[in-house]
Amino acid sequence: MISAKPSITKSLSHSPRILQLKKHIVPRLLRWYRRNGRELPWRKERDPYRVLVSEIMLQQTQMSRVLQKYPLFLKRFPSFQTLARAPRSQVIRAWQGMGYNNRAVRLQQLASTVLHQYRGRLPTSILELQKLPGIGPYTAHALACFVHKVPHPVVDTNVSRVLKRLFPRELKPTQRVSEDINRIWALAHALLPHRHAYDWNQALMDLGALVCTAANPQCSKCPISQACPSAHKITRGRVRRKKQERGRDAIPNRIYRGRIIEFLRHRTNGRGVTFSLVACAVKANYTTKDERWLRGLIRGLERDGLLTIRKKKGNVFLTLPD
Ligand code: ADE
Repeated sequence: MISAKPSITKSLSHSPRILQLKKHIVPRLLRWYRRNGRELPWRKERDPYRVLVSEIMLQQTQMSRVLQKYPLFLKRFPSFQTLARAPRSQVIRAWQGMGYNNRAVRLQQLASTVLHQYRGRLPTSILELQKLPGIGPYTAHALACFVHKVPHPVVDTNVSRVLKRLFPRELKPTQRVSEDINRIWALAHALLPHRHAYDWNQALMDLGALVCTAANPQCSKCPISQACPSAHKITRGRVRRKKQERGRDAIPNRIYRGRIIEFLRHRTNGRGVTFSLVACAVKANYTTKDERWLRGLIRGLERDGLLTIRKKKGNVFLTLPD
């Protein structure tokens, strides 16, 4: 599990308020989920690879986009083997429209690791899962529960918001972010109904996505509003946006990185495209003042395995990796 200290977990799992709430809200939320839960394609899947792909896609891409791309990606790469053996350029092309292209590279590296180090089987333990490329604490817990049916809590942004509203006292923010994160995970552990862990986690996600939303919570439709101290008190969502990393012209560098890869996706000739062509394509009003910055971005993409730089007769050519 995530680094929730055993002492915190123990004190929360013995707290009378939590035990009482658990008795009250677990059956209600599970019943609500059976009637109102979303029909998502990966919820019917039993194949670890197919569940894994959904979790990686959902990390940073909105649901509507994932629903479009998920079946196409699986059709093109139906197994760990096909993904691991495909040319990198094809994997990056298939990731088009998903954003954060690093994930495509890491997913392919993960497929290769599973194939070669784990004989094609996705590891079961949280510790082993977290050693895989692209897998952090959240995804490791999701895979342990959704693939292997191990009773672990899964805390994503939606779940975290629901829990903070249900337990405003227990989860009152402190000065230390890591302490706050530990407490949320500990509380999620304490609340978990072990025999229904899969449905419980999916139900909390759906409640956060459909009812207990950030900006417009619909407490009147919430199956557990009676137990929620925040119900009807939230007048307006206070959505605190993460400070955007500034790049050129106040556009974040990740957008420029995405543009570079998108440009290369459509260039299939083997020789690649020149640095100056890429420069003009990705930044309007490109000038030589931007050259150092753009070279830095391109070197970063090369380090991440997303493009290849070739030098020929003093010219620089860029392609997607083979
Ligand atoms: N976000 C991450 N994993 C999810 C899942 N299995 N269902 C819905 N939303 C999710």
